[in-house]
Parts: sequence; structure tokens; C-alpha cells
Amino acid sequence: MVASLDGFIARKDGSVDWLETSDEFAGGATLEPEFVEAFLKSIDCYVMGSRTYETALGFEAKGLGWAYGDKPTFVLTSRELPRTRETVAFHSGDLAQFVNERLRPRFRSIWVVGGGAVSADCLRLGLADEVCYSIVPVLIGEGIAFFGTLAKDVALHLAELKAYKSGMVELRYQVRK
Ligand SMILES: NC(=O)c1ccc[n+]([C@@H]2O[C@H](COP(=O)([O-])OP(=O)(O)OC[C@H]3O[C@@H](n4cnc5c(N)ncnc54)[C@H](OP(=O)(O)O)[C@@H]3O)[C@@H](O)[C@H]2O)c1
Repeated sequence: MVASLDGFIARKDGSVDWLETSDEFAGGATLEPEFVEAFLKSIDCYVMGSRTYETALGFEAKGLGWAYGDKPTFVLTSRELPRTRETVAFHSGDLAQFVNERLRPRFRSIWVVGGGAVSADCLRLGLADEVCYSIVPVLIGEGIAFFGTLAKDVALHLAELKAYKSGMVELRYQVRK
């Protein structure tokens, strides 16, 4: 996910207006559309919490589009939520069983979109192989934390680090099992 330097993925009310910053880092890379396209192509399916899904539906309703293309998108929820496209499926219940028994046999690259509650669950349950953490140059003081609450430490290995012209720093970690 993308977070503020102080570790928040959204304000308390869920807004992400702070993602647009005006910083410039002269030595940074440019995010090329071809790179983004190839990267998105490498993802086989998405998993997200219901509050992240509701945010995505809100973006779509504002005409900002659906960010997940035609890839299967699994939404975790115990509620009845609107289903706006065929590629969306809902799931409720044991996350480890769902990921290990239903998703892993079918999909190679499973991208957990978030939010904080689901990313914490994935780490707590040992389901995450990698953590991709992009920091935008802003502090917002309070909000929804990237990882929610974790019961114990999670050791990581820094696998990749990239800084962009926008001032965003992208960190990719492998979870040490
Ligand atoms: N900055 C970024 O890159 C980024 C990325 C993603 C999201 N976000 C932001 O993060 C915010 C949402 O994060 P969040 O931590 O509040 O919520 P979330 O992780 O998106 O969703 C949590 C909800 O998903 C449902 N859920 C989770 N696990 C479940 C399971 N095993 N079975 C059934 N339901 C399950 C539960 O809701 P119900 O059962 O009540 O439906 C739970 O309250 C949004 O504002 C979004 O914009 C930001």
C-alpha cells in the first residue's frame, strides 16, 4: 500500500486526498506507464477488505474508474455489499484457509490490496510473502495504520528500494519465515 511517512494509509474518515503531493526529488525515477502496465499484468488476483472495496466503489462512482481491471477480485466481508462487476466475489470466514486452500492452488501472484485490518491479518497469519510499502512525502498525524495491530514482531528482508521524482519511496520486503 501507499502510506504517509508516519505510517497511515488513509485519514480516519477513509480519505486519501493527501496521496497527491507536490514534492520533487531530482534524482528520482519516473514511473513509466509501460512499467505500470507490466506490473499490473503480473498480478493474478486481488484480495481486499470490505472498507477498501467500499472506497474503490466510491472512486468508481465519482468517475475515477475501477483500478483492478478484469482480474478476479475477492472482497472479504460479512455483509451484503453491492456487486458491480462479474469479476468481484465475496468471502467471509477463515482467511488462512481461503488463501491457502482456495486461492494459492489457482493463482500465482495474489495481491492483497489492503486495508490495514486485512494486511495485519495476512502478516499475523503468516500468509504474506512480501510487503510492498510506498511512502509519500507527507505527515498526516493520525489515520488508519498500514498494519493495524500485530501480536508479535515480523522479521523482514529488504529486497528492493526505489525513489521516484515525485518524492515517493517504494520499499519491497520479503517476509522472513
Ligand atoms: N493508501 C493505500 O494504498 C490504501 C490501500 C488500500 C486501502 N486503503 C484505505 O484503507 C481504508 C480501509 O482499511 P481498513 O483497515 O479500515 O479496512 P479493510 O482492511 O479494507 O476492511 C476491513 C473489513 O473487511 C471485512 N473482513 C476482513 N476480514 C474478513 C474475513 N476474514 N471475513 C469476513 N470479513 C472480513 C470486515 O468488515 P465487514 O465484515 O463488516 O464487511 C473488516 O472490518 C480505506 O479508507 C481505504 O481507502 C488505502
